[in-house]
Amino acid sequence: MSYKITYLGLKDQFSKNKRKIFDAYNKIFAESSFILRNDVANFEKKISQKLGTKYSVGLNSGTDALLMSVLSAGIRKEDEVITVSHTPVMTIAAIRHVGAKPVFVDIQNDYNINPDLIENSITKKTKAIIVVHLHGRSCDMKKILKICNKYKLKLIEDCAQSIGAKFCNKIVGSFGEIGCFSLHPVKTLNVPGDGGFITTNKKKINKLIRLVRDHGLELPKSRDIVKRFGFNSRLDNMHAAVALIGLKQLDEWINQRRKIANFYCKNLGYLKHIKLPPSPDEDKRYYDTYNSFVISANNRDKLREHLNYKGIEALSLITKGIHLQKKLNLGNWHLPKTEELEKKVISLPIYPSLSISKQKYIVKCIKEFYD
Ligand SMILES: Cc1ncc(COP(=O)(O)O)c(C=O)c1O
Repeated sequence: MSYKITYLGLKDQFSKNKRKIFDAYNKIFAESSFILRNDVANFEKKISQKLGTKYSVGLNSGTDALLMSVLSAGIRKEDEVITVSHTPVMTIAAIRHVGAKPVFVDIQNDYNINPDLIENSITKKTKAIIVVHLHGRSCDMKKILKICNKYKLKLIEDCAQSIGAKFCNKIVGSFGEIGCFSLHPVKTLNVPGDGGFITTNKKKINKLIRLVRDHGLELPKSRDIVKRFGFNSRLDNMHAAVALIGLKQLDEWINQRRKIANFYCKNLGYLKHIKLPPSPDEDKRYYDTYNSFVISANNRDKLREHLNYKGIEALSLITKGIHLQKKLNLGNWHLPKTEELEKKVISLPIYPSLSISKQKYIVKCIKEFYD
């Protein structure tokens, strides 16, 4: 038996929710309520409840969430911001867009920042740490919070890949000053297009980001008074409606992802040519949500070609850390773990509708490659 297995399960997700989505769209069209209307406000209320923060603000992408975060944290030219190179470029772009300098710290085996290397990188200019909770796994927040408190650093969380993930029972996006989330179609909670939001407990940040996402206008009082220069970065009402539908299913989706991760770990764990991500029960401090299931594989490119040939859409993502992007002129960095892991990464399909027979087929094809 062979299969065609896509990397994402968006078609299944959409067809399951089609009725609910079209009902929501019909209502929105009937009311002509497109920009910053009820669904956005409802989504902000519900997602704040879910993530346990006082506020959240709907934006048009995770990229903008990061940009607004560095702006509202007051990061500016000459400041240094500690982060990782092993992340999509948007994390670093936000730092550079305000003229600050990214200072890269190496990662550890779970692809997240190695907290034990952070203190060595702190200088007088360090203003903030942007942690990236990658692949649905929280960073080690106990150690990181301790460092932030000791050196009075602001903490921004890039949670784009990790909605619902927890560390010591606390959910990501609620640790730092600001949490940045993406609702892009590849994310666990997604919308049919671009979308994102920030979370915060700070009234001032909530107010500022609300203002700048809509051109700095003094709304609802006046459309003519501009309080400061801003952006057009509003979460679309139609997207918010879809996010609300998804939010009700988020726990179930995460459960399903964890079950699949468990299946992969149980069945591939013994293979000595690959290293798996931590299994759902490996370390009780972590509650991982497996936005992606990334293995580190010997002979990576050949394995990926083999899987692709077998009809399995496995991808290698983030294979060149941002410090290696020569055109960006970010200087020379010594990040051995980052570079070692990037040579080996492959993401396997993982999504709620991935059937058990397809999971078995993926496992079988990986085993036969190394046999
Ligand atoms: C870690 C990380 N940060 C930021 C982003 C940016 O999110 P968006 O695509 O919604 O702009 C992404 C999305 O790819 C991401 O994975």
